[in-house]
Amino acid sequence: MKKILVLVGSNRKESINHKFAQALEKLAEGRLAFDYFDLSTLPMYNDDDVGAYPAAAQQLKDRIAAADGVLLVTPEHNRSIPAILKNAIDWGSRPWGQNSWTGKATAVVGSSPGAMGAIAAQIHLRSIMVSLGATLLTSPEVYLQMKPGLIDQNNDITNEDTKAFLSGFVEKFSAWVGSAQDRVAA
Ligand code: FNR
Repeated sequence: MKKILVLVGSNRKESINHKFAQALEKLAEGRLAFDYFDLSTLPMYNDDDVGAYPAAAQQLKDRIAAADGVLLVTPEHNRSIPAILKNAIDWGSRPWGQNSWTGKATAVVGSSPGAMGAIAAQIHLRSIMVSLGATLLTSPEVYLQMKPGLIDQNNDITNEDTKAFLSGFVEKFSAWVGSAQDRVAA
């Protein structure tokens, strides 16, 4: 089974994006094993601390290295990604010359209660990850408008069209993780 590090850009207890990640995890059962990293354990990035990497930041780098792929699940805060997610990306990108994102099979998804489904945040995030050299799954794009009841208490998606679309995403990401591994090995 492929191991996926999951970063959800929210520290809110009732995060809709965390719920969304759990629904994807359920769709991926038997194919992808999700490893959730708690972004709230990370201190705010400070370049002065890079000489002695904080334990949580080192753990993030170790878990990126150990993962076959990374899934970034982002809310939208003021038309961009939440600071807590950018902070994690910055820690992962350093020390200089040891960027953990390079060549890592990565996918971006996100959700908002708004009709645009965190599109502005995801466009920013894609641009950031491309600049860091991640091997980014470009399609499908997943802009999920979270509506009440769309994901039930068992983390099942209640709308059949949405479920089919997201199953397609899981399928493509799963294949992408495999193909990115092949490219690194080649
Ligand atoms: C938001 N929200 C929001 N939504 C959106 O679609 N576009 C936006 O630009 C913003 N901006 C924004 C700024 C800040 C500071 C907050 C706290 C919220 C609403 C946001 O989508 C909503 O709170 C989601 O529930 C956040 O996702 P989580 O934390 O529930 O996963």
